Amino acid sequence: MSYDLIVIGTGPGGYVAAIRAAQLGLKTAVVEKRKTHGGTCLNVGCIPSKALLHASHMFEDARDHFEGLGIGVSAPKLDLKKMQAFKQEGVDGNTKGVEFLLKKNKIDAFIGTGRIAAVGQVEVTAEDGSNQLLQTKNILIATGSDVTRLPGIEIDEKAVVSSTGALELESVPKRLVVIGAGVIGLELGSVWRRLGAEVTVVEYLDRILPGMDGEIAKNFQRILSKQGFQFKLGAKVTGVQTTSKSATLTFEPAAGGAAETLEADVVLVAIGRVPYTEGLGLEHVGVQKDNRGRVLTDAHFATNVTGIYAIGDVIAGPMLAHKAEDEGVAVAEILAGKAGHVNYDVIPSVVYTFPEVASVGKTEEELKGAGIAYNAGKFPFTANGRAKVNRTTDGFVKILADAATDKVLGVHIIGPEAGNLIHEAAIAMEFGASSEDMARTCHAHPTLAEAVKEAALAVEKRAIHM
Ligand code: FAD
Ligand code: NAI
Repeated sequence: MSYDLIVIGTGPGGYVAAIRAAQLGLKTAVVEKRKTHGGTCLNVGCIPSKALLHASHMFEDARDHFEGLGIGVSAPKLDLKKMQAFKQEGVDGNTKGVEFLLKKNKIDAFIGTGRIAAVGQVEVTAEDGSNQLLQTKNILIATGSDVTRLPGIEIDEKAVVSSTGALELESVPKRLVVIGAGVIGLELGSVWRRLGAEVTVVEYLDRILPGMDGEIAKNFQRILSKQGFQFKLGAKVTGVQTTSKSATLTFEPAAGGAAETLEADVVLVAIGRVPYTEGLGLEHVGVQKDNRGRVLTDAHFATNVTGIYAIGDVIAGPMLAHKAEDEGVAVAEILAGKAGHVNYDVIPSVVYTFPEVASVGKTEEELKGAGIAYNAGKFPFTANGRAKVNRTTDGFVKILADAATDKVLGVHIIGPEAGNLIHEAAIAMEFGASSEDMARTCHAHPTLAEAVKEAALAVEKRAIHM
């Protein structure tokens, strides 16, 4: 059997690419080394983390907020085993869904580790050691990423965990120390804080969420602190000593100074992810990587070796599932002779805490850095009727528009439903809208989305409810 396309890795990038390729008539196969499809995202990333974020949010609401709404309940009891089963059911439902879609699209799925034996050849090694060699016109590397490790700190997935272990804890740690104030640290920190852990986040930089708009990050840190998060910023972790029951973390000011220690029941290492290409045989066929280990590609996802392409976390760009998916669609369309394209200027990102943080386009820091003059319009949820009545008023919407043309360049939101609201901005930006366009679009009342319209009005200092 010879294929038009073999995709290595069935994460959001790989399985979406395979489906789109099959839709376009390419004879397609996938190779996946996990027993289930869906990659990091469905198995140990987006989906299980969102299940625990949802369940823990419900738990906290029942404990702390129901009474204020006139709903009398006795103190909720945590059944963590059941909550973990709820999470796993969600994961299984999603991974089975991918398996169904692969079958539906007549894509051959091989479970085993894929290695590029030569141009046009993929060797699949199954768990029992058996091998088979598949022939193909094109190969797509979609092998994703892996946890970044801290030198000298061993992740045993018990006392010192990665995100994978932090999704599997069997009891709520009394003290959770998170290394890294990025997306994973704040999302999974939120889960365990809501369920009763004291959470301290140790971050090397002097701010949380590097890359996000600075004003948003500062306000978000204040909100998280109010919720009980403790932050040690500008702190360099130098070691973690573990006993059978707990861990002692040593850190010192990044700028230099006396060392301090923190006691923890569990330490979560969440300092980023690295592209994963182990055992793929890239060196053997001469596929080039950059200095951060990412597979080098051109604007059409082609590597330097003819017939070998790459997408998703394993190449440059934000490590996000929807970025990988869009690249998957684009590369399949390119291989089928169409004009596949990803607009990297409009890739939303969301932190699924409560409130959520969502962002699309340029931050104020980026605009300043690029010397682009802009106007900013801001509107707080305290002035939005729906947020007010729901008592979810933490946060605001910020719209950044070009000072000369009024074109929307960036939108940043902290607030309830921010992860959904941001798509209004993404669509507007995709169509090249001005803040005037957003401001003149009728928004239903009473909705949280009115805060987006008011922020657009605020660009020209004419918000109504402020
Ligand atoms: P992956 O999903 O990593 O898939 C790669 C697949 O390739 C894996 O299944 C792997 O087993 C397989 N593979 C690797 N090497 C081989 C080989 N040699 N042979 C065969 N198979 C191989 N992103 C979001 O957008 N939203 C979120 O809410 C979100 N939450 C996250 C939460 C956590 C805890 C983590 C860790 C990540 C989260 N992400 C989120 C990031 C998201 O998971 C990744 O951006 C996304 O999975 C990347 O997709 P991918 O297809 O490039 O790679
Ligand atoms: P991240 O890059 O978001 O954050 C890592 C943090 O660790 C940064 O603040 C960094 O400054 C800090 N750091 C790095 N080295 C450190 C050290 N030695 N000591 C202390 N702090 C240190 O990475 P994270 O949170 O691990 O997530 C990995 C990837 O997964 C992200 O790139 C993100 O795109 C993706 N992800 C996306 C989610 C979403 O879209 N909601 C959810 C979870 C993960």
